[in-house]
Amino acid sequence: MSSALLAGRHVVVSAGPTYEDIDPVRFLGNRSSGKMGFAIAAAAAARGARVSLIAGPVALATPGPGSGSLARIDVRSAAQMHAAVIGALPADVYIGAAAVADYTPARVAAEKIKKGAGGDGLTLQLVRTRDILAELAIHPRRPGLVVGFAAETEDVERHARGKLAAKQLDLIAANRVGVAGSGFESDDNALVIYGSDLALPLGPASKHELASQLLDLICQRLPAAARATDSAR
Ligand code: CTP
Repeated sequence: MSSALLAGRHVVVSAGPTYEDIDPVRFLGNRSSGKMGFAIAAAAAARGARVSLIAGPVALATPGPGSGSLARIDVRSAAQMHAAVIGALPADVYIGAAAVADYTPARVAAEKIKKGAGGDGLTLQLVRTRDILAELAIHPRRPGLVVGFAAETEDVERHARGKLAAKQLDLIAANRVGVAGSGFESDDNALVIYGSDLALPLGPASKHELASQLLDLICQRLPAAARATDSAR
């Protein structure tokens, strides 16, 4: 692996969950440690990229800059992650490894919601969040390569290929969740990378090894001519 394959390239990576506040003490969140996204950011920096790592609430140390550079932007909610990703453009590559909440409370209660008022139950009204990945793929400043993730509990290929097409992605990394020894908090995982012309199984392996193999594929596929950046420093 050359340490300069991504020199002069700007790679934006989203990682971790988002937290959608219900009131000052409660939130809705997704199960995600952020380990896969952080490993991807580290692998991009190791190849010389300028990396913007947009991180949801995670308990992880910022990866080193490798032979490139790495700037970490911490966010909490899906709306904040959306703004940070769009704000990081232009970019050559976007890798959406974050487990973004699909729904957020319609209103955030200013005070802690007390038991009692609603009887035995509590009904929350939720509204859809914006799909960061799908928006980026049709953005006027679309990165040259847009890569998504799909965490599925069943029928992985069909769902992943469905998202690849519906969200107009170049590649999607699919993994089966709910299987012991992979996904979520685990250090290991197994992925299948789908493209319109591709079905590439990776692993089981450490998330660092998988990130390295995914970045090798991205380096091969990055259009040589389309150097979208890099004036936005
Ligand atoms: N994603 C995103 N913004 C959202 C929701 C998802 O950018 N509001 C991205 C994730 O970062 C991931 C991909 O979309 O790269 C797929 O996420 P996933 O949760 O597997 O799928 P969804 O599109 O949310 O569909 P569903 O929940 O119905 O499986």
